[in-house]
Amino acid sequence: MKLVKATCLLLILAFALIAVPVGSPRSQPGIERRINAIIARMTLEEKLGQLQQLDGEANGNYRPEHRDMIRKGLLGSTLNVRGAVRTNELQRVAMNESRLKIPVLFGFDVIHGYRTIFTVPLGEASSWDPVVAERSASIAAAEARAAGVAWTFAPMVDIARDARWGRIIEGAGEDPFLGAAMARARVRGFQGSEQSAPDRVMACAKHWVAYGAAESGRDYNTVDMSENTLRTIYLPPFKAAVDAGVGTFMSAFNSLNGVPSTANPFTLTKVLRGEWRFDGFVVSDYTAVEELIKHGVAADEAEAARLALNAGVDMEMVSRLYNKHLPALLRSNKVAQATIDEAVRRILRIKFRLGLFDHPYTDESRESKVIMSQENLSATREIATRSFVLLKNAQETLPLSKSARSIAVIGPLADDQQDMIGSWNGDGRSQDAVTLLAGIKTKVSQSTKIVYAKGCDVSGDSTEGFAEAVRAARQSDLAIVAVGESADMSGEASSRASLDLPGRQLDLVKAIQATGKPVVVVLMNGRPLTINWLAENVPAILETWFAGTEGGNAIADVLFGDVNPGGKLPVTFPRSVGQEPLYYNHMNTGRPPDANNKYTSKYLDVSWTPLFPFGFGLSYTQFRLSDLQLSTKRILPGGELTTSVEIENTGRRAGDETVELYIRDVAASVTRPVMELKGFERVTLQPGERRRITFKLTPALLGFYNREMRFTVEPGVFHVMIGTSSADPNMLQTDFEVAER
Ligand code: NOJ
Repeated sequence: MKLVKATCLLLILAFALIAVPVGSPRSQPGIERRINAIIARMTLEEKLGQLQQLDGEANGNYRPEHRDMIRKGLLGSTLNVRGAVRTNELQRVAMNESRLKIPVLFGFDVIHGYRTIFTVPLGEASSWDPVVAERSASIAAAEARAAGVAWTFAPMVDIARDARWGRIIEGAGEDPFLGAAMARARVRGFQGSEQSAPDRVMACAKHWVAYGAAESGRDYNTVDMSENTLRTIYLPPFKAAVDAGVGTFMSAFNSLNGVPSTANPFTLTKVLRGEWRFDGFVVSDYTAVEELIKHGVAADEAEAARLALNAGVDMEMVSRLYNKHLPALLRSNKVAQATIDEAVRRILRIKFRLGLFDHPYTDESRESKVIMSQENLSATREIATRSFVLLKNAQETLPLSKSARSIAVIGPLADDQQDMIGSWNGDGRSQDAVTLLAGIKTKVSQSTKIVYAKGCDVSGDSTEGFAEAVRAARQSDLAIVAVGESADMSGEASSRASLDLPGRQLDLVKAIQATGKPVVVVLMNGRPLTINWLAENVPAILETWFAGTEGGNAIADVLFGDVNPGGKLPVTFPRSVGQEPLYYNHMNTGRPPDANNKYTSKYLDVSWTPLFPFGFGLSYTQFRLSDLQLSTKRILPGGELTTSVEIENTGRRAGDETVELYIRDVAASVTRPVMELKGFERVTLQPGERRRITFKLTPALLGFYNREMRFTVEPGVFHVMIGTSSADPNMLQTDFEVAER
């Protein structure tokens, strides 16, 4: 009898061990038990239903088909269906009419705000302030969840080193360290510590992986890179997202070294589940499972389904190959029952973490209170001001006086509501957006005369509006000219082969500059642009990206000095598109560029240097760095040290500066970048105020992947560089040594 009892106990224990992933960082036995009970009752069709996600109508409505499928347990998730009433309607079908009462997971692209739109992610990264990123994500989450959306397809944490790629706008730019900081903050902001709270959503780290390295910057294109570059540059923001507890991943459209990301067991299973112990689920990108056929790795639909599921894609977005082909594949032993069950388990786990089983509905009275609240609007305005980058300010052209006699506001983007909220703007409405013209009008004194002239369109050849724009400038004391890209010129499927200002915009600025009036250029764009002429000729340039719902007010806050700009570029601005991909943390080569030696690594027709370097941005005040110190000049391979520097505001206004710490491993067993960001801190200082900023350098920051792909800290000399941009002419530098044991 005792033996039987003991065997039973052992069996139960063994079952529990199989069911709950061992070592899973966040496994909750209570949830896993409930999942087991559900899976035990599911038919194969119901299981496959959980693996299916379908698209709603563009306006947020669900499709009649969704109701029927949900009733039969054949649809686990939708995308784009939103609004408390609609999602509740559909949820009621799941909870009241389906056999197993598994709630639907409503997903949506909440990329930079749900209805209150924030500056685009690249702009937000320019704040170099993770607090800002966490705050905007938490507000976006609160609005989305109030509208029934429990899952966002964000953050996009793809590193992008090529400005031609339109989706550079959706990420944090070119650097893995900054990218990881932003990824962590965004995941925390979306998910909070309790995703079942009525103001949080599940985040999704995308696009797994290396999508940002699309060859020649052309969207969806092939990627070929070494494992070393993959692990050093492209993986860290994803790892940061996992460490922050991200619930889901999205597999990317691109292939990586010949294997499409949606069928890649190395990235989807070995790295993500094996090395990183990720226990959430992976959704494919839109129809990416079906696209395995065009990629040329699957001969037919069944093979595509088999490859994706077996590689580790749990949920299929929009294409329906799992549902169609997995039953036969199961019968022929080409996929295992355990693999299907595991995918279901991961999806149910996330539904449980979101609290959907216990609270499937959204309180319909909250939506109108939460969305576009005054508090949210103030937050987007403040966050936008922190994202602007002052690229040039000759003779202190900025800030402007609010009581100027007359100002001409010119340019195709000066009074455009649609472009102000950028691409991928969720449920944002252009009619909510404050344009630059409106923001300026509210800001200036009643006696200031504002003359507006569009001048030209963003694209196209017409110069018909030039004469009026020139007249407006002539009549005024100064001209503010808003130029750049329209919102749809960046984002998905919006790669550009030219980085110049499109259309006749440059000619427009030249015509205004020729009037002799002071010109301030306000840039709105989703990627670095080649603005050499502006940089040389125009006295002041403010980079504002696409600033969101309160954009016009935020830009006016900065132009007129209520806020001192302190943003820094998270991406390099090239002089010519031919320099792309251009990024600061490149390798040195055996022949680094030397102007006096032809046979060195450079171009014949353009400088090798950027127009504006990574980490660059000015302020209305000045700062000085001094007294760089190290806690020790020598450490052992496992050791750490601190470095610190003093920063002082030497100007006459309060302002923000970002102190940037870079290192260089001078000689290692594999080549190392000429510099790598390893710390940063944005501080606000009053005039005359000083502060000491301290950074810790740990083995995790000093190490790299060696030839055997082992992460290691090698003995040798390291340079430590601290400055206020990656090309700071006043960079402070010192060295330390990692000694042999
Ligand atoms: C395709 C995009 O690549 C992805 O980022 C997005 O989340 C999905 N479509 C869903 O809209």
